[in-house]
Amino acid sequence: MNWATVFILLWIFAPALFDKTFAEETFSKCPFGKQFDIEAELTCPENKEHFHCVPVLPYFNAVIRICKRPKWFVKGTFPVWSPKYKKITSVPCASRRYQDYSYKSNNISVFKCSREKALCTEKGQVTLFRNHSTENNLCFCMDGYAFLKESKNGTYCNPDVENCSCIWIRTCKYTF
Ligand SMILES: *[C@@H]1O[C@H](CO)[C@@H](O)[C@H](O)[C@H]1NC(C)=O
Ligand SMILES: *[C@@H]1O[C@H](CO)[C@@H](O)[C@H](O)[C@H]1NC(C)=O
Ligand SMILES: *[C@@H]1O[C@H](CO)[C@@H](O)[C@H](O)[C@H]1NC(C)=O
Ligand SMILES: *[C@@H]1O[C@H](CO)[C@@H](O)[C@H](O)[C@H]1NC(C)=O
Repeated sequence: MNWATVFILLWIFAPALFDKTFAEETFSKCPFGKQFDIEAELTCPENKEHFHCVPVLPYFNAVIRICKRPKWFVKGTFPVWSPKYKKITSVPCASRRYQDYSYKSNNISVFKCSREKALCTEKGQVTLFRNHSTENNLCFCMDGYAFLKESKNGTYCNPDVENCSCIWIRTCKYTF
């Protein structure tokens, strides 16, 4: 092999070698609870506050475990890893979940947004689906039913802070 050939081969394969060396190792899930703290100390011994386990863009079906200085993000979002920009950024919650407080990117409670939206499935209840990434859905009562305890709003009830049970009320409105 002469030098020209070696040079050409390097030129062809160097990017592949480079990609392999710096390929990001991904996992299928994050450690939770006590395991999270153990993993944080092992992965980021210089500062365990820097440990992040976040879903990877664009499909979120893998997670990355990485040491980075934590950043604050606004409510309605969750932290993700952008392989393209090699950084932690944030994206809006999926429609079935919500995030009602701003957070530091290393907070594992915010994994894909911290709370699942309520479905109002008790007897007589109906769900008001809200396209809202920072607040829960609301519940209301179907015809013939009323809240057991009057809700603050009158019509809608917030299952995060109120008891939204509906009870059957005999309708005697039209009988005098
Ligand atoms: C995550 O955020 C919640 C809500 O603000 C807070 O109670 C909890 O302490 C945070 N956890 C960490 C590890 O910062
Ligand atoms: C929800 O809101 C987003 C952003 O405001 C919008 O793009 C989307 O079409 C809305 N979806 C529904 C079902 O209203
Ligand atoms: C009750 O809640 C609905 C839905 O969020 C809102 O549009 C309406 O203004 C509220 N009414 C009162 C009296 O707070
Ligand atoms: C609401 O209150 C009723 C009566 O006290 C109780 O039976 C029901 O379990 C409560 N619902 C919730 C979701 O706490």
